Amino acid sequence: LTARTEEGLAQPALPLESLAPEPTARVWAVGGGKGGIGKSFLAANLAAAAARSGRPTILVDADLGGANLHTCLGVRGVPRSNLGDYLDCRLSDLEQAAVDTAIPRLRLVPGVLGRIGALETSPPQRQRLLKAIRELPAEVVIVDLAAGVERSTLDLFLVSEQSFVVTTPEPTAIENAYAFLRAAIFRRLAALVSGSPLAELLDDALDARGERGVLTPGDLLAGVAEHDAGEAERLRAALAAHRPRLIVNQVRAQDEVKLGFSIRSVCRKHFGIDLDYVGYVSFDDYVWRSVKERRPLVVSHPNSDGALYIRRIMNKILDE
Ligand SMILES: Nc1ncnc2c1ncn2[C@@H]1O[C@H](COP(=O)(O)OP(=O)(O)O)[C@@H](O)[C@H]1O
Ligand SMILES: [Mg+2]
Repeated sequence: LTARTEEGLAQPALPLESLAPEPTARVWAVGGGKGGIGKSFLAANLAAAAARSGRPTILVDADLGGANLHTCLGVRGVPRSNLGDYLDCRLSDLEQAAVDTAIPRLRLVPGVLGRIGALETSPPQRQRLLKAIRELPAEVVIVDLAAGVERSTLDLFLVSEQSFVVTTPEPTAIENAYAFLRAAIFRRLAALVSGSPLAELLDDALDARGERGVLTPGDLLAGVAEHDAGEAERLRAALAAHRPRLIVNQVRAQDEVKLGFSIRSVCRKHFGIDLDYVGYVSFDDYVWRSVKERRPLVVSHPNSDGALYIRRIMNKILDE
């Protein structure tokens, strides 16, 4: 996994500036690079917890291709329309795709199941999607991201007000979390320097990765500082303004809890960002039961360990 994509970083088209300055919703994205680590589980449960706390909530299944939140939330049958219909302009308003779930105040914009190549989006499609998600009429909007570092995934992660990176204690998941963060940071940097001479430097730096050892955003910023200290400072400040939140999921042993802190210090040292380790969620046998029951854990087993930790994370964020 690398930040570089076939479209090139020269035209990142990350439309941060063109988006409405004050979105109506609090948009949260749940990502993490690897599949099967609990992104959807956490997105569904954070959304259910938000709805149960009285906040009208919309969960967006942005796993274009591998969507299954409708099943986890007890939506019967195949949803009439989904996010793909909006992306392909068959719907003019994203809210039209939202369906009620079994949970009061929680609606779902279903994703696309099994559409090959569905993750590949054009810049106008991405721009339209980001804007629509931010304009959804809800108090909380939670976006469940796909695995991988596809542009649409990174952009949704970057424009959300709260961005969660999920990992499990497994080395492979941690590796993917770093790759995901690295890709996201490079994409943000590319958007920040787009159109300036630095864009070329960024491209070159990424090209030369092997030889010159430019591997991390931290290295890159050090390189920029050699040319232009002021610009490096501007980029550093822009990166520091967004603090992704880290959740360690499926924790089975006490020492795995500390993992979040070591990931945080690696990110500070090499990526130039200060991750907010918001908490962990234990591996809980009630999770598969809740999936079988087609209800989120916080609804089906509210007193389970897992539900407890999720509510703890939720309260921490809502209290801020
Ligand atoms: N904390 C947990 N305890 C037990 N099982 C979990 C936990 N988190 C996730 N799972 C299970 O792991 C599997 C993958 O979770 P999922 O949310 O689909 O991952 P992702 O969206 O990252 O691909 C699912 O079967 C889910 O029920
Ligand atoms: Mg998922």
